[in-house]
Amino acid sequence: MDYQIFYLEETDSTNNWAKREAKKGAEDRSVYMTDKQTAGKGRRGKTWENAAKEDGGNIMMSLLLRPGIRLESAPMLTLVMGLSAAQAVFECTDVKVSIKWPNDLVLCGKKICGILTEMSVAGGRPEYVVIGIGINVRKNQLSEEVDKIAASLEEETGRPIDRDILIQTILKKFEENYHTFQKTQDLSGLIKPYQELLVNTGRKIQVLGEKESYTGICLGINEKGELLVEKEDGTKCTVYAGEVSVRGVYGYV
Ligand code: BTN
Repeated sequence: MDYQIFYLEETDSTNNWAKREAKKGAEDRSVYMTDKQTAGKGRRGKTWENAAKEDGGNIMMSLLLRPGIRLESAPMLTLVMGLSAAQAVFECTDVKVSIKWPNDLVLCGKKICGILTEMSVAGGRPEYVVIGIGINVRKNQLSEEVDKIAASLEEETGRPIDRDILIQTILKKFEENYHTFQKTQDLSGLIKPYQELLVNTGRKIQVLGEKESYTGICLGINEKGELLVEKEDGTKCTVYAGEVSVRGVYGYV
């Protein structure tokens, strides 16, 4: 399948740009990328800081899909992209990055990639889905707070990264994984590779929800992409990504 790539030197947010184009009828598998976002968005209403010291350093792009899937399956696409990006980094650098559930990529305990998925619903189905991905490739100029948990691929691997090849590889991996995903409209065909990269498994985690917070041991994910957690009293529960954030007990991971 062909991906059509659109580029602007600067935009507010590639997710916003993709959504504007979607409303105007842009096609499935359009990709919007930029070198500078003036209002980059992160999960949970946060901003996405991504100031590379040299221009053109980082990946900020959003993929527009018109997937024709059930509504409840759409949020799982975030995990499909996280897995694809991790596999692409490995293919391009030989460095194994891990996934911090649901979709942060981490290297040496620091975040190098974040993903934000947004969608529009019509008639009870996703009309379009926008998956925005930000990867710190080069050394970044970040605020002190973000700098504590974030790093860049080049800093951590000590190798130069060809950004264009990495982008092409992410899209290639995404296409393969998306094909698997579409067969069942869930993650049953991708659980194995996803869990192999999941950093949380077997670790003590904090589940921070709006109503309750607790600690437990992460047991992996299920086919819906929910996190399986064993609480301290021995009961098991599933955690849905939209509702909570997960942290390590001793830090970000
Ligand atoms: C997160 O970890 O909080 C998600 C960050 C997602 C950032 C990317 S950068 C490209 C796209 N456009 C945005 O405004 N956000 C996403």
